Amino acid sequence: MTTTVPAKSDDRALVRIRGLTTVLSGKTVFDALDLDIPRGKVTAIMGPSGTGKTTLLKHITGQMRSGRGEVRVDGLNVPELSRDQLFQLRERIGYLFQNSALLTDFDVFENVAFPLRQHTKLPEVLIRNIVLTKLQAVGLRGAAALMPNELSGGMARRVALARAIVFDPMLILYDEPFVGLDPIALNQVLKLIRTLNDTLGITSVLVAHELAAIKEVADHVFLIANGKVVAQGDPKTIADDGSPWTRQFFGGEADGPVPFQYPAGDYAQALGFKQGEA
Ligand SMILES: Nc1ncnc2c1ncn2[C@@H]1O[C@H](COP(=O)(O)OP(=O)(O)OP(=O)(O)O)[C@@H](O)[C@H]1O
Ligand SMILES: [Mg+2]
Repeated sequence: MTTTVPAKSDDRALVRIRGLTTVLSGKTVFDALDLDIPRGKVTAIMGPSGTGKTTLLKHITGQMRSGRGEVRVDGLNVPELSRDQLFQLRERIGYLFQNSALLTDFDVFENVAFPLRQHTKLPEVLIRNIVLTKLQAVGLRGAAALMPNELSGGMARRVALARAIVFDPMLILYDEPFVGLDPIALNQVLKLIRTLNDTLGITSVLVAHELAAIKEVADHVFLIANGKVVAQGDPKTIADDGSPWTRQFFGGEADGPVPFQYPAGDYAQALGFKQGEA
């Protein structure tokens, strides 16, 4: 008897986005965006605030499905999945939210156990085993009984990370994991992202603003602005590619190809002046 293995649409890219066009509240967030996330690597997504980085992660998990175009994850086109298929896919994706979002009434152990209790009927002994393994991986097995308000910001981030990997995901999405961390905690989270990626064979997508950290951890970086990828490459050299986009973004210039103002109507009119009066 032979078994057929379903063909993957692209063996190199785990996430393949083609022609993604998303309009939210009248603003074009993505304008025919094309982007590939390679398997087994750490890929960084950078871009000005409000450019759609969090929205991009939501397209990948199917939390955002209002766009046009293709968002393929492991060969599956997310916008076309049924509810059940989408939930199955989400179990294979770990997500570290922009804030760690721990459940404040539960201790560290129960925070990590929470998705297992919600989505499985595993016996207690197995849950304990999985939770302690994940806490050990982030260096916090000894903190299992602490409550979230007893944790530092960096520890909370690591607990959220342990929770994000309870289902041994194929893909993990980090939305600004370094914000508010001191240099030591930042380095710990940084090393963890790389170690989890390499030892568990995970594909990692990292949204962050800290170029120095991204240089350390990422294999590839995409710079997104005005709905498209405006630059991409090796994080160590991308800032020096000489384009006006990278010059503005990495040079921190307030105005440039990315306008300072969110699109708005006529200013004088909004202030109540008639045309030509202001
Ligand atoms: N659910 C939504 N409904 C309407 N507009 C939204 C929604 N989510 C995001 N937006 C808009 O989409 C744009 C992109 O938002 P997003 O949160 O993806 O930006 P970001 O790049 O993650 O920014 P930051 O760096 O500040 O986190 C913004 O203009 C925002 O107002
Ligand atoms: Mg965001």
